[in-house]
Amino acid sequence: MEREIFLRSVPLFAELEDRHIHALSAMLAERRYRKGSVVFFEGDPGDALFIVSQGAVKIYRVAEDGREKTLAILRDGDIFGEMALLDEEPRSAIAECLEPTTLYALHRKEFLAFLANNPSMAIHIIKVLCGRLRRANAQVMDVVFRDVKSRIVRTLLDLSQRHGIPCRAGVRIDLKLTHQELASLVGTARETVTRILAEFQDTGFLTVDGRHLVIRDREALESLAVS
Ligand code: CMP
Repeated sequence: MEREIFLRSVPLFAELEDRHIHALSAMLAERRYRKGSVVFFEGDPGDALFIVSQGAVKIYRVAEDGREKTLAILRDGDIFGEMALLDEEPRSAIAECLEPTTLYALHRKEFLAFLANNPSMAIHIIKVLCGRLRRANAQVMDVVFRDVKSRIVRTLLDLSQRHGIPCRAGVRIDLKLTHQELASLVGTARETVTRILAEFQDTGFLTVDGRHLVIRDREALESLAVS
């Protein structure tokens, strides 16, 4: 029953009838991962779609010289692994758990059958893909036309919007990110992130609480992001 309540809260399944949620619940395989575990590698064959039940999953690619580019960080209720099931190509990126994570796996055959019988699910998947394309387009524009400081600011604002929790000092980003991980999201060197974060701490725009960043002055950061 707990699983059905969770599934009802996942946007992909929001419009399914109760009997379908019930059937789906029985089909899902629960998988638990430790921090740092890889769910799949780029190039693997795709046999299942994953739903994040609890935790955080980093989606990234690795360049030939070993540098990483993080494409997205996914959290509870997010889905991934749909692309290889839909276009029958290999996995397009690596999925790795940033913290202890529980996923539900839905196998290809069941996923495709559900999609065929539930137009609301198909429309939702298209919306997810549109959202990812919009973000990818925005990132291309940022990389081509913005300087690195502005890109770091936009990444911080995006993280605070997606993973932010209001706190006394401002908004706390609910992810333990190293400077290297932040650099991989922005697409720059770790040293650059360290230097610019230190600058933002000096000016009071943000502060660090343990391994969490806290945005203290969102407006000031926003004004930097448009310049
Ligand atoms: P798939 O190609 O099966 O395996 C990797 C998954 O990462 C992919 O499906 C998507 O679910 C997800 N993914 C790939 N690119 C992005 C992106 N730019 N933003 C968010 N998720 C992505």
